[in-house]
Amino acid sequence: MKFQGSDQYVATPDLMLAVNAAVTLKRPLLVKGEPGTGKTMLAEEVATALGMPLLQWHIKSTTKAQQGLYEYDAVSRLRDSQLAGVEGGAKVKDIHNYIVKGVLWQAFTAEQPVALHIDEIDQADIEFPNDLLRENDRREFYVYETRELVQARHRPVVFITSNNEKELPDAFLRRCFFHYIKFPDADTMRAIVDVHFPGLKQELLGHALKTFYDIRNLPGLKKKPSTSELLDWLKLLVAEDIPLDALQSKDDKVAIPPLVGALLKNEQDVTLFEKLVFMQRHNR
Ligand SMILES: Nc1ncnc2c1ncn2[C@@H]1O[C@H](COP(=O)(O)OP(=O)(O)OP(=O)(O)O)[C@@H](O)[C@H]1O
Ligand SMILES: [Mg+2]
Repeated sequence: MKFQGSDQYVATPDLMLAVNAAVTLKRPLLVKGEPGTGKTMLAEEVATALGMPLLQWHIKSTTKAQQGLYEYDAVSRLRDSQLAGVEGGAKVKDIHNYIVKGVLWQAFTAEQPVALHIDEIDQADIEFPNDLLRENDRREFYVYETRELVQARHRPVVFITSNNEKELPDAFLRRCFFHYIKFPDADTMRAIVDVHFPGLKQELLGHALKTFYDIRNLPGLKKKPSTSELLDWLKLLVAEDIPLDALQSKDDKVAIPPLVGALLKNEQDVTLFEKLVFMQRHNR
């Protein structure tokens, strides 16, 4: 199969190439990009295109690689044994009942090949990526508590996304195919908006996109608005039925666009933007 985007998801040619390359190489695809550039959605779309179920694993700062394999739930076992009394229940005696399978285990032993998305890997500690990929590479791991070896039936298609908050270790990078999702240019953005709001008035979209890219290009902005923020903003503009001229800069005045809170998320950025609008107004 060749991944070609879908009617829900706009994929640029270089993104399609990267996805297909990773699938061919059977290596995890490491995707980076600004927040809101469609990384999470990509994993969902590729899984659908490949006809595979998708397992999602969202990484937090406290997540350990071991949790992706399995966890031994000693606390439940202790509680059950206390409740069961002296004779003890059959459940308590069998340690298998307290081994909780992690996503990698599920992926390895699923009926059919699955896609696995490890989201925001850079949230975890520095050891996490290496620990995890070692098991994924060898396609087996050992469960010490039950003395069993879990071996993969299939190799899962792995997507790993990172928001670039931490550098990733070299040994980890060696095992991945890398793709950086560039921020969409205006044409790609039109295509993305079209997916979400088919039939949006082109004139409104044109003005909204101009305002959006003007804001993104403001030097010194703390948080640049992303695709998902543009989509939110457009949704509001449509819902509130904002007239076109509220977005247009007229000759005598440049207005602050309505509902700009959908795009700018902190007071410094709003002030910066207001200053710029004020200056433009006086230069006219
Ligand atoms: N190429 C695209 N085609 C269609 N919709 C897109 C595309 N890129 C982004 N979007 C829209 O933007 C929203 C945000 O995308 P998503 O959650 O996948 O971003 P992300 O990169 O995972 O962000 P974060 O880093 O914050 O998790 C999606 O719900 C989708 O509606
Ligand atoms: Mg995401």
